[in-house]
Amino acid sequence: MTRALLFSAVILLGSCAKDIVTERSIRTIKYSDEEYEDLSQLLSLPRDFDNYIANGVFNSATRATLGRVLFYDKNLSKDGTVSCGSCHHQDLAFADNAELSTGIYGRKTDRNSLALGVFRSFADEYGSNGRPGEASLFWDLRANSTQLQIESTMANEKEMGIQLEEVVSRIEGQRHYQILFDKAFETNKIEDHMVLTALENFMQSMSSGNSKFDQVAGINQFNGASQVFMTDIENIGHKIFSANCASCHGKAINLFTSQQSQIMANNGLESESRDRGFGDVSGNEENDGMFKIPSLRNIALTGPYMHDGRFAKLSDVIDFYSEGIQSHKNLNTELRDENGHPRKFNFTDEDKEGLIAFFTHADRYE
Ligand code: HEC
Ligand code: HEC
Repeated sequence: MTRALLFSAVILLGSCAKDIVTERSIRTIKYSDEEYEDLSQLLSLPRDFDNYIANGVFNSATRATLGRVLFYDKNLSKDGTVSCGSCHHQDLAFADNAELSTGIYGRKTDRNSLALGVFRSFADEYGSNGRPGEASLFWDLRANSTQLQIESTMANEKEMGIQLEEVVSRIEGQRHYQILFDKAFETNKIEDHMVLTALENFMQSMSSGNSKFDQVAGINQFNGASQVFMTDIENIGHKIFSANCASCHGKAINLFTSQQSQIMANNGLESESRDRGFGDVSGNEENDGMFKIPSLRNIALTGPYMHDGRFAKLSDVIDFYSEGIQSHKNLNTELRDENGHPRKFNFTDEDKEGLIAFFTHADRYE
């Protein structure tokens, strides 16, 4: 059976916590017997666990644990039917498998859910730790911090439709939250910003760093060097990827040898944009149809693909790049030929098979 290597559950389930401690543990958190008994009536949490440093970033285990509980709590939506986890499933690299996701009152979201567990470290990529305001979240990059993203998702009438104050008033009387907030923030007075910080800490605890590709590249921080090799067909895919895709998607695969020079582009899905993407945010037509260049780590798990989920399978995406790129006034130059027309990669069957093998096997842990 294949599975993506996503560590958040491992981290927070405690027994394997040592795996991800790359420096030293900071402080062990302990619940009193009474607190643990109260918590255990609703939640299955480790008895004791450590704060940790992953990828050089301090992570508060108490806050991430609280964030994890909030992430799966449907009280965070107006009608009580959806949680963050409804549209971000851990086993799908924290994406979901619908073209558009289902929010409150059965409403459909405007766009395809974005995967969260697709970076060697979410904290490095998006966290406010050390790089405030540098995040560019959502398909149209409209949120420049995780906290803004969370507020906007909660307020969105198709997603959760709720204000932070209401979330706080719904949860503040609950015993398990009193304990978890007390551990995380050393207070039993719950405030809006704590909800945001805890959710942010949970997301920052997500990482994906032990794919076959990482092992071959020798950048596996968990097990040291290993004797792992890619198959011939995976190597073919890797070559095609490096030559044609990494200029845009490079960082997505390997943070350390980033070839990626841009964070958004128009990739020629259609000649007239139905969704203006970043153009709507900037108000500039020159940005119409430009969207975030998504990570391709764990990509085999996160279909359907593109901002509107138009392609069901990876093979559809590869056929699109091979023969289907459309002319658009903002089509990125890398996807044009020397005459400015949409480029046709004309991949052979073997090239296509190689790309799929690379994305399916080498790109994630099996
Ligand atoms: C109803 C489904 C739904 C719910 C509930 C939901 N999300 Fe999302 N999430 C999405 C969709 C769809 C997108 C992409 C939206 C866009 O780009 O316009 C997204 C985007 C994101 C992103 C941006 C990722 C990136 O790479 O830019 C983050 C982070 C995120 N969600 C976290 C959360 C958190 C935390 C919660 C709970 C507070 C949550 N989501 C609740 C559907 C959902
Ligand atoms: C000019 C930059 C650029 C190049 C080059 C490029 N892409 Fe993309 N790619 C994008 C953008 C932008 C998107 C998102 C487009 C959207 O949804 O509107 C995307 C989306 C994707 C997706 C869907 C991701 C998801 O989460 O839905 C896949 C898979 C993909 N590209 C694979 C490839 C492959 C394979 C190649 C090489 C043959 C390639 N790309 C070359 C910019 C690029």
